[in-house]
Amino acid sequence: MSKTGAFDMASGVGGNIHKTQVLSLYEKYHAFYGGEEEERKTNYTDMVNKYYDLVTSFYEYGWGESFHFAARWKGESLRESIKRNEHFLALQLGLKPGQKVLDVGCGIGGPLREIARFSSTSVTGINNNEYQITRGKELNGIAGVEKTCVFVKADFMKMPFPDNTFDAAYAIAATCHAADIYGCYKEIYRVLKPGQCFAAYEWCMTDAFDPNNAEHQKIKAEIEIGDGLLRSTRQCLEALKQAGFELIWEKDLASDCPVPWYLPFDKNHLSLSSFRLTPLGRFFTRNLVKALEFLGFAPKGSLRVQEFLEKAAEGLVEGGRKEIFTPVYFFLARKLLPDSQ
Ligand SMILES: C[S@@+](CC[C@H](N)C(=O)[O-])C[C@H]1O[C@@H](n2cnc3c(N)ncnc32)[C@H](O)[C@@H]1O
Repeated sequence: MSKTGAFDMASGVGGNIHKTQVLSLYEKYHAFYGGEEEERKTNYTDMVNKYYDLVTSFYEYGWGESFHFAARWKGESLRESIKRNEHFLALQLGLKPGQKVLDVGCGIGGPLREIARFSSTSVTGINNNEYQITRGKELNGIAGVEKTCVFVKADFMKMPFPDNTFDAAYAIAATCHAADIYGCYKEIYRVLKPGQCFAAYEWCMTDAFDPNNAEHQKIKAEIEIGDGLLRSTRQCLEALKQAGFELIWEKDLASDCPVPWYLPFDKNHLSLSSFRLTPLGRFFTRNLVKALEFLGFAPKGSLRVQEFLEKAAEGLVEGGRKEIFTPVYFFLARKLLPDSQ
């Protein structure tokens, strides 16, 4: 059965981390994030992995099986927009039945299952978080897609696949976790077949971000606490080209979207369909987590994890409102054929 209730969420906090260690791990995570960027890059993969142990059950409870934002039309629910953005990716990649597709940083596999079913392809999700993979396999079983949807536990910086393996690759809200974005794209390039495409929704700072503006820097830091090392759209494009890709097209899909992607977190917004994400919903969740932690059902430190996710949510809303940050920077790129290089 799907585990999306409040009790399941609270008792799942910490994932693979022992219940007695959630608090100390949280403190360590924070000390790490307070440090210098260079220091953060060392052991970065390990910290990101622990971060996802801490937060996965909150994400699934609040957001569902897909852990990403979406460009949204008027009249569309949050869930509908998330699925449509996944279908868009499949269409842009031109996926054909029977193809072998790679999902880079696949979470618990929400996009992977949707894209595999939508396009009749086989999708391999790579993820270095064991807890998410265990959960993803359970959800594959519930959806009955074990034959076409598989998980591989590995670092996307060093993938355990031979060169030229996949007919297509995509990454959604994941490669912002790469300490070295060029190295990450280069690795995706290696495992893609020549002539085939890579598409992504990247988390990026936009051209409106001013590194000399203290408020902008504060917002960027708040987002980075939960969600990676943010780069500009230009840096991502430059890294793509350096890795050898030919850019087909790119666009910040937030730029002309009628419903802001951050709406579910906005203080002025009340939604019944995504109630758990609204300020009122988060107030209820906070008190529930507090009670479950007090009663011993949730590990010590759960409330702090919930609180720091709320801080990150505030940064996201501010970043979105000021248009200095986007979680839906889309690009489509192709690996060149050997004779055109
Ligand atoms: C925000 S989640 C997005 C998950 C998924 N793409 C989705 O949209 O539901 C980022 C994912 O990247 C994974 N990840 C981060 N760093 C990774 C690495 N070095 N190797 C493999 N996976 C990684 C995390 O474990 C997590 O599953």
